[in-house]
Amino acid sequence: MRVFLRTFGCQMNVRDSEILRGLLEEAGYAFTDEPENADVIIFNTCSVREHAEHRAISILAALARKKGNRGRRITGLIGCVAQHKKEEIFKSIPKLDFICGPADLYSVPDIIARVRNGQKHIVNVRNERTARSVEYVNPGHRGSKIHAFVNIMYGCDNFCSYCIVPYVRGKEVSRSSKDIIKEVKDLAKRGIRHVTLLGQNVNSYNDRDCDFVKLLDLINNIGSIDKISFLTSHPKDASIRLFKAMRDLVKVDKHLHLPLQSGSDRILLLMNRGYTAKGYRGLIKKYRELVPGGRITTDIIVGYPSETEKDFRDTLELMKDIRFDGAYIFKYSPRPPARSSELKDDVPIRVKKERNNILLNTQKEFYKEKAGA
Ligand code: 5AD
Ligand code: SF4
Repeated sequence: MRVFLRTFGCQMNVRDSEILRGLLEEAGYAFTDEPENADVIIFNTCSVREHAEHRAISILAALARKKGNRGRRITGLIGCVAQHKKEEIFKSIPKLDFICGPADLYSVPDIIARVRNGQKHIVNVRNERTARSVEYVNPGHRGSKIHAFVNIMYGCDNFCSYCIVPYVRGKEVSRSSKDIIKEVKDLAKRGIRHVTLLGQNVNSYNDRDCDFVKLLDLINNIGSIDKISFLTSHPKDASIRLFKAMRDLVKVDKHLHLPLQSGSDRILLLMNRGYTAKGYRGLIKKYRELVPGGRITTDIIVGYPSETEKDFRDTLELMKDIRFDGAYIFKYSPRPPARSSELKDDVPIRVKKERNNILLNTQKEFYKEKAGA
């Protein structure tokens, strides 16, 4: 049996796909890059923006309709879209055999076996992590021989108004520092030199007496690891103590991904972000003082409900003052049940595109200047 597995979305999903690949290889499946030659087609999906969700659904629906070279194929949809759409997804893809949310990836081999035994439309969207999927250190498959993603926590408790993540990835849970250290040591033995620690908000990592800074320190002491990166930080929880650790711990990558989302205090409040533009500026100032030469990247949303020209100018001004080393710019889309979906999506798409382009071009200028410097 050959599996074709396609991944959409963030690094969490990339890591989830590695784990699933490891589990399926353990169960005797081989992998192929050609969907035509696959017996099982699985899409690991992202629902953070409407566009990505639609794209994954329409590509998978087209594949499920086709027969392929090997007769009847099993198709499955896993990840955030499965958790978000639940049974409703079968209306868009009637030929789909199973769906499984991100909290219980470990059940997928068993689900495929049940489909092979004739069961249809299998659904596993319990949104609570099983102990197994928090604690078990799955060596799995790794996409690279020198770099590895390591989950340190799952889920998110922040409830930013626009964001679907807390609904599809569940409550925040930190993995035990003991398990994480064991996993990194095992990776080091297998030749991995660079690890990227993953969590929706790594700054709130907490395992009893071990917080994120302590965890960085513990991993910094592991002999053959040379470089430690981490994603994502939240401005309301990033601290001076973290910046000092980034300065003092030699292996820690001097890169902070700190999503700004908006430079307008009115919009930040509506977004439930828990900081002001001034607070964000202060944080960056401290970071640059404490971590000289440190890189800083960000995410920005344009066209949040009620965003005025003045709100947008505030974002543009902040962006120009800070001069990020990289910025991902997104056009707002409502994501029910996220709270902002109750607000009128009243910024016309034309205006969203215009604002999106202005920010992209501004960032492009910074890249050019930095390359020339
Ligand atoms: N609309 C547009 N962009 C969004 N993001 C999250 N939710 C939405 C949404 N509803 C962006 C944020 C986040 C990044 C991963 O995706 O900028 O940081
Ligand atoms: Fe990752 Fe969020 Fe997309 Fe899920 S919804 S894949 S957590 S970015």
